[in-house]
Amino acid sequence: MGKDRSGAGVEDGVRTVKPPPDRLYGRSRGHKLRPRQELLLEVTLPRLLIDPDDPWGSFAVQPASLWLEIGFGGGEHALAQIAAFPGIGLIACEVFENGICSLLSRLVPEGGEADETLPGNLRLWPDDARVLLAKLPDGCLDRVFLLFPDPWPKARHAKRRFVHPAMLPLLARVLKPGGVWRVASDDPTYQDWVRSVMSAQELFDAPPPAEARPMGWPPTRYVAKALCAGRTPMYWTFVRR
Ligand SMILES: C[S@@+](CC[C@H](N)C(=O)[O-])C[C@H]1O[C@@H](n2cnc3c(N)ncnc32)[C@H](O)[C@@H]1O
Repeated sequence: MGKDRSGAGVEDGVRTVKPPPDRLYGRSRGHKLRPRQELLLEVTLPRLLIDPDDPWGSFAVQPASLWLEIGFGGGEHALAQIAAFPGIGLIACEVFENGICSLLSRLVPEGGEADETLPGNLRLWPDDARVLLAKLPDGCLDRVFLLFPDPWPKARHAKRRFVHPAMLPLLARVLKPGGVWRVASDDPTYQDWVRSVMSAQELFDAPPPAEARPMGWPPTRYVAKALCAGRTPMYWTFVRR
């Protein structure tokens, strides 16, 4: 059994972890936004918003299946997936404004904020993923991605981890039976944590993770960071029962 940074056993931690805090993360801002970033948020973002009450109707063409990425960061993975799978509808979710701007700036050249053609198979939720999960219809998703979630390595912050016993029913409700939940992490505490949380639940099949990035998992900047620092990312594919 692994130890977290407080020295407590990870499995003890899973048994005793508090529920996630009620506080939801609204849009958050790092450094002051530049005028171009302000424009992207004011003009381009509204052109891409998902309506959680009608996720299929939010896309330019009704998608064959709906996928969700939680915490897309700079958007590398989301953009690679929509390019590789034009027939799906990807809902990409991120709270951090600088990340949202980073993805938007890759989609539109300067000056094209209002009228550049945007991908028909991408829609955004610029807010807490938990709010979106609570609003989406039952069984609407075929795939969910949670890549390199914030690890919250201290035991007293375990309640903030996205992989959390209380989150599993929310994810299970929106995933179809047979739907896939992909999780990657390079943080050893989080890796032990995922193993323990997923071995104590019955909603998902949870085979052991891969240690080499599987085909079809486009890399993000966190993969490069992990490998540079000598950490081995783990890649899980959980399947909704
Ligand atoms: C460590 S970064 C990884 C980003 C990206 N997945 C990647 O691999 O490059 C985690 C991201 O999740 C976002 N995030 C954390 N909690 C979130 C939540 N409840 N809803 C949406 N995004 C969230 C953070 O803002 C951050 O950008």
